[in-house]
Amino acid sequence: MSVTVSLPSPYRLIPFETIDSTNEEAKRLADSDAPEGTVVWAREQSVGRGRRGRSWVSGRGNLYCSILLRPDCHAFKAMQLSFVAALAMAEAVASVLPKGAFVNCKWPNDVLVEGRKISGILLESQNIPLGGMDWLVIGAGLNIASFPGDVEFPATSVVREGGKGVTVERMLETFCLRFWAGFVMWKNLGFEPTRKAWLRRAAWIGKEINVRLEHETLTGEFKALDKDGALILLHNGCERRITAGDVFV
Ligand code: BTN
Repeated sequence: MSVTVSLPSPYRLIPFETIDSTNEEAKRLADSDAPEGTVVWAREQSVGRGRRGRSWVSGRGNLYCSILLRPDCHAFKAMQLSFVAALAMAEAVASVLPKGAFVNCKWPNDVLVEGRKISGILLESQNIPLGGMDWLVIGAGLNIASFPGDVEFPATSVVREGGKGVTVERMLETFCLRFWAGFVMWKNLGFEPTRKAWLRRAAWIGKEINVRLEHETLTGEFKALDKDGALILLHNGCERRITAGDVFV
């Protein structure tokens, strides 16, 4: 595969024409001691995976990549990196769309343009005893040339939103650069700067939302993002702290 992507150290790019899933490959590499900063990128995936066991449509023309990290912290803290990744993707998307396009972050880690999903992030980790973590894989999918029509949440793409001449290579570079800057900030300063920046782009903060949990759907006001990244929902006069779920309006 001819590659015209250049990523700075400590990134190490492993490109594929086709793969089952970049997350799966990153996990295989993690298990064979690949270092932090390994990036798996494929032009298409045959078994692209989304959150909560869903599939991720993965034809050519869109971005599919996974970054391998080895964060030296408690697993629950490392989950904050999904916000770092979503924010990096939101900034990368905003940088190629016409000025004034509404690029928002949807809890926990989707990116929306004009209310339609353009990108999703899938975190997978290998935890070790006492809450530690061996590796963390951050998989990111970005619709550039195309988007699926038959999905629960309406989707869009960079091209549909007016991005001109945008290549997969350029989006890979921009996302990775922004992610690493955010990762370094998170390591040095903690979650708070990311939390604040994410909130500035948050969709539906202060608005009524529905949150689908495993066994129920709650309706209430999206009050806040707490210091660990949980969604605070004001539901029937009580604050509920939600750590996993799907948000709809
Ligand atoms: C979501 O459900 O919103 C998360 C989608 C994550 C898709 C990306 S594409 C690259 C990486 N490889 C996968 O199989 N999934 C993630």
